[in-house]
Amino acid sequence: MRIYKAKDYNDLSRKAANIISAQIIMKPDAVIGLATGASPIGTYKQLIEWYNKGDLDFSEIRTVNLDEYKGLSPDDVQSYAYFMKTNLLSHVNILPENANIPNGLEEDPEVECKRYDKVLHSMGGIDLQLLGIGGNGHIGFNEPGNNFDKETHCVTLTEATIDANARFFESRDDVPKYAYTMGIKNIMQAKSILLIASGEEKAQALYDSFYGPITPNVPGSILQIHNHVTVVADEAALSLILKEHEITTGGHVL
Ligand code: GLP
Repeated sequence: MRIYKAKDYNDLSRKAANIISAQIIMKPDAVIGLATGASPIGTYKQLIEWYNKGDLDFSEIRTVNLDEYKGLSPDDVQSYAYFMKTNLLSHVNILPENANIPNGLEEDPEVECKRYDKVLHSMGGIDLQLLGIGGNGHIGFNEPGNNFDKETHCVTLTEATIDANARFFESRDDVPKYAYTMGIKNIMQAKSILLIASGEEKAQALYDSFYGPITPNVPGSILQIHNHVTVVADEAALSLILKEHEITTGGHVL
């Protein structure tokens, strides 16, 4: 695992976009796992810019998103499907039939989780999975305490995550209580993982994930046993790690 220090959010976004574009150039039909939240917005903007310049071609790329709120339709502005459409998919040449995301409108968790796992299995593995991290260490919507060996499942969001995500909704009451998420098992099966984090509110989660014990109480800590993880984080998110470790431009190897 290697941790790279970015000066700020812009630098982080460019570095992350560089890693993703290298993957796309090396394997034009790669399966890319996508994430939502504030963290990847800059990365997606950068990828769109390079696409517009003619430097990137997504025509054979297949994408799989980590998660979706249960109960929200793809047209709902708060849904992750809508987020993906507005922040990436409608701006680049990823074919609609190649973009996958859990269906928030499926009421039966068993049906939807089985369907999504089938999609994931049919792709032959995710080449590069982009991840953000929650302030409580969650990845995707795998909340603390969640079993490490799950595939796609329906989760009850923790109060901490509802609080954190309330910033995107009109009121806290509007935040859905349930979500469909790829499980840790799906994430760990990705051939490589790129985790990005920005801001001081991620400092503890980053420190605990990469320097603490591996425990379901900190879902991100499972990444310590994956053999190809790259972390790109800004100085604020790395603040606790930087107190103990120097991170040079070549990255810090764990
Ligand atoms: C949500 C998403 C996660 C994301 C996390 C952090 O809960 N389900 O996939 O990593 O938020 O989001 P942000 O990047 O906005 O801090």
